[in-house]
Amino acid sequence: MKKITVQDILKKKPEGRKITMLTAYDYPFARMVDEAGVDMVLVGDSVAMVVQGIENTLPVTMDEMVYHTKMAKRGVTNALLVGDMPFMSYQAGVSDALRNAGRFLKEGGAEAVKLEGGLEVIQTVEALTRAEIPVMCHIGLTPQAVHRMGGFKIQGRTEEAANRLIEEARELENAGAFAIVLEAVPMELAKRITKSVSIPTIGIGAGPHVDGQVLVLYDLLGIFERFLPKFAKRYAHMKEEGVKAIIQFRDEVEKGIFPSEDQSFK
Ligand code: KIV
Repeated sequence: MKKITVQDILKKKPEGRKITMLTAYDYPFARMVDEAGVDMVLVGDSVAMVVQGIENTLPVTMDEMVYHTKMAKRGVTNALLVGDMPFMSYQAGVSDALRNAGRFLKEGGAEAVKLEGGLEVIQTVEALTRAEIPVMCHIGLTPQAVHRMGGFKIQGRTEEAANRLIEEARELENAGAFAIVLEAVPMELAKRITKSVSIPTIGIGAGPHVDGQVLVLYDLLGIFERFLPKFAKRYAHMKEEGVKAIIQFRDEVEKGIFPSEDQSFK
């Protein structure tokens, strides 16, 4: 398998080949995703919820995101590594955005960054693109806007909101974005947005008519169990398997079965 670049991601759309992206926040899970041949590893700010146990993504810091990106980097050989810019790492101005996006590439080893927002981030996307930092955008349900949205709710339900999302996607493409994550939007709208832009759309809760799909790895593997969004699918039950294994360990120690001679030195 060959190293995947931003150019490879861009080529997949006209060729009609679906793009895959999964989150990972450390070495072992990034290795698993990379070995499975997934196109992109996203060090998502969802780390706040699924690893740090916080109720939303707002508290995770730039230093923490860089730390996780460094760990994930060591596990990735082929996939494109994308660092997710946390809340308030780019909202206060373009110079913050440049400095923090630069940290993802210089310190974390990421090859692109992702940020949330539509028309309000156009200047930021332009500045990062000018600085040779590939930018993936994220519109629809943007978890960093949880308080404005009044919760994690489907977006683009009215004609006005739908038209705004189409306009935002077009403007983000013009600003230089190389891909757009569409989160929690009706599938017909996602189809319209996908047809309106020449860069790939990566859906999460956006139905099948998009150019690729992304999921939070801990949802897919059944590790995060506080809730499962309607749009996620569990392909494994690792939390249950893990607890079973730990109970067996506890049991075997209590009964004197572990360690046996096999695990002991003569
Ligand atoms: O942080 C994250 O995991 C994300 C994905 C849900 C796209 O932004």
